[in-house]
Amino acid sequence: MAQVLEIADLKKLAQRRVPKMFFDYADSGSWTEGTYHANESDFQKIKFRQRVAVDMTDRSLASQMVGQDVSMPVAIAPTGLTGMQRADGEILAAQACEEAGVPFTLSTMSVCSIEAVAEKTTKPFWFQLYVMRDKDFAGRLIDRAKAAGCSALVLTLDLQILGQRHKDLRNGLSTPPKFTPHHIWQMATRPGWCLGMLGTKNRTFGNIVGHAQGVEDLSSLSSWTAEQFDPKLSWDDIAWIKERWGGKLILKGILDPEDAKMSLKTGADAIIVSNHGGRQLDGAISSIEALPEIVEAVGDKVEIHMDGGIRSGQDVLKAVALGAKGTYIGRPFLYGLGAMGKKGVTKSLEIIRNEMDITMALCGKRDIKDVDQSILKRY
Ligand SMILES: Cc1cc2nc3c(=O)[nH]c(=O)nc-3n(C[C@H](O)[C@H](O)[C@H](O)COP(=O)(O)O)c2cc1C
Repeated sequence: MAQVLEIADLKKLAQRRVPKMFFDYADSGSWTEGTYHANESDFQKIKFRQRVAVDMTDRSLASQMVGQDVSMPVAIAPTGLTGMQRADGEILAAQACEEAGVPFTLSTMSVCSIEAVAEKTTKPFWFQLYVMRDKDFAGRLIDRAKAAGCSALVLTLDLQILGQRHKDLRNGLSTPPKFTPHHIWQMATRPGWCLGMLGTKNRTFGNIVGHAQGVEDLSSLSSWTAEQFDPKLSWDDIAWIKERWGGKLILKGILDPEDAKMSLKTGADAIIVSNHGGRQLDGAISSIEALPEIVEAVGDKVEIHMDGGIRSGQDVLKAVALGAKGTYIGRPFLYGLGAMGKKGVTKSLEIIRNEMDITMALCGKRDIKDVDQSILKRY
């Protein structure tokens, strides 16, 4: 491919370079994938107001998320198995974020461990927590994140049980990868990926294997999730997590105004309007559709972030205009990583930054902090 100009170009490249089962793992939603696709297509319904003859010099995208400076209101979303898109994927993505001045969020279900990422980076990253039935283990994860200097904890609330993703079941996805002839073929046709994997020790769930009692190997993500994730998680649990953590707390997976109101009682610093990238409740509304009513319900009381379906800087700008103080990208950075490693993650961030900057200017604004609904036609 001659030029990478948009996120879709990175997706095409990733598809060629990442074994099918792991590419599909990123590019999948639950059941019909209706919510996954609505996340993307609902952004298209929102239109900008074009303004002219406005001074467009000296523009700034710099902002803050939970009190931390960001070069633009975009963070990397926590994604499991990132180190299977490319060897050492979490480390590479965290380094790219550090250089770009945006937060990187490490998933509980990452391949590279909290400690491995901390060792190869110089600035604090964020850690995402799934709450396990084994509270000691969850507590130790919090302690490890603290010890590694993480500067925010993202608590995911929308995955107490796992949504069914047909592609993963059809592919027989597992970590470490199985070695059936089918899987070996998928990997053998991606020699660059294989070479990378041979050169790293990070090939399983680094935060879990060897840390959770009795877990020496994780052959099935879904059965481990079914056994270990706490289906009883309730609003009351947030109190002990908040106390043990003691730092900035962000609640992820809020899609309903009633839940947004409940989240106020927890004292969290921010909430993320999210449906887990359409990977959990298929048939739920898109994140961008959910955003305005949540902003209306609690926007004056808590910082609001959103994720789901962002594929361009224009999408980020629309979310900011509708009241999001920050946004997160999942698949766009995964495609960049699978396509070109660290350079690809940097590219995904650059594409989004450039699109946001130009769009903001053409809407007649010079500072992201001045962006509000007035830049949109339909609101
Ligand atoms: C491959 C993949 C793995 C994910 N793993 C996690 C995870 O471990 N923890 C979590 O809170 N969210 C996880 N998510 C959800 C993302 O954090 C985020 O909500 C979603 O990707 C945003 O949508 P987008 O991919 O359209 O940008 C995952 C998403 C993807 C695509």
